[in-house]
Amino acid sequence: MRKIRWGVIGAGGIAHRRTLPVIGDVKNGTLSVVMDIKDPEKLGKLYGCDWTDDLAAAVSREDVDAVYVAGPVHLHAEHAIAAAKAGKHVLCEKPLARTVAEARTIVDACVANGVLLREAYMLRHHGAHREMLRLIQQGAIGKIVFAQIHWAFLYPKMDGAWRQVPELGGGGSLADVGCHSFDILEVLVGPINRVAAVTGTLVQDYKVDDIATVLLEFESGAQGAVTTSFCLSGNVMPPSLGIYGSAGAILATDTLTQGTDGDVLLVTEPDGERRPIEYTQVNMYVKQLEAFADAVIAGQRTTQDKADGLLRTMRMLEGSYASSGNGKFVTI
Ligand SMILES: NC(=O)c1ccc[n+]([C@@H]2O[C@H](COP(=O)([O-])OP(=O)(O)OC[C@H]3O[C@@H](n4cnc5c(N)ncnc54)[C@H](O)[C@@H]3O)[C@@H](O)[C@H]2O)c1
Repeated sequence: MRKIRWGVIGAGGIAHRRTLPVIGDVKNGTLSVVMDIKDPEKLGKLYGCDWTDDLAAAVSREDVDAVYVAGPVHLHAEHAIAAAKAGKHVLCEKPLARTVAEARTIVDACVANGVLLREAYMLRHHGAHREMLRLIQQGAIGKIVFAQIHWAFLYPKMDGAWRQVPELGGGGSLADVGCHSFDILEVLVGPINRVAAVTGTLVQDYKVDDIATVLLEFESGAQGAVTTSFCLSGNVMPPSLGIYGSAGAILATDTLTQGTDGDVLLVTEPDGERRPIEYTQVNMYVKQLEAFADAVIAGQRTTQDKADGLLRTMRMLEGSYASSGNGKFVTI
């Protein structure tokens, strides 16, 4: 089998925690180089690959087919565009960028250079979410009328935390996990047509939102609500995902995480029977790398007609922040 040779840019955070430990185990990939401005040698030695602190050197290597862009959000465009211009496929961490306009520069560079671009929405691969999708498609809960996500972290002010600076993260709790929420809801329920939101900073001492609630309307007419927070802990607001239909509901708790588990409950009408749902636990980060490499090997490339799809969650984020300012719905 052909293997995709990876370079990892911004290798010390989520890449170090979740992707680099498994990249050697994926069926269709190998790791060539890590690039970071901090301790690249330590990372290279740990993961048994070359290392550098030079972006151009990393992306121009002959033995790199694809680059996983995993630095802070304000650097995604610089890193992803450098990779695309060097002819490398790009798996970019979420959110793609700080604004729709900035995200578009990444998409345009990938289209112009004939490479594949995907945003790293690993929650699509969670075993629980795959099983929820199967049940929904089977009609287990009838016609979907409502969907909700609650997602909270306690994230007090910290020196050097780029997520807490609007110019670096592009927003706060909503930018950080709202994009994941929109993406998984579109997978499970279908396209989101419009959004309205309130965002605020109620507890933390920084300028990005520590609480946000977004009202959604899906193309189907179903309604939705997403709440994200940096001022509530997961103890009081565990990550929850609920899809509610005319014949029942599917409720997932603790699946919106970096792990493999969480509980899923199917509730069915007419008597409200509650049944725990079994599913196969998988490492989402492995599946994400494998799916990306499969797509590259199959010849998938990002073309202009796909560009719009890649900007959807960015439009929802930007639309939500705009709506919070002007009180109006924003059509996606
Ligand atoms: N999907 C997920 O499970 C998940 C989880 C956490 C973060 N993320 C996303 O991953 C990205 C990074 O988040 P994080 O929490 O890992 O951040 P982080 O700050 O913990 O790590 C970022 C890494 O980038 C490096 N870096 C900074 N400037 C750099 C530069 N100029 N060149 C190369 N490397 C540089 C830092 O040294 C650090 O190692 C963000 O887009 C975030 O939203 C995704």
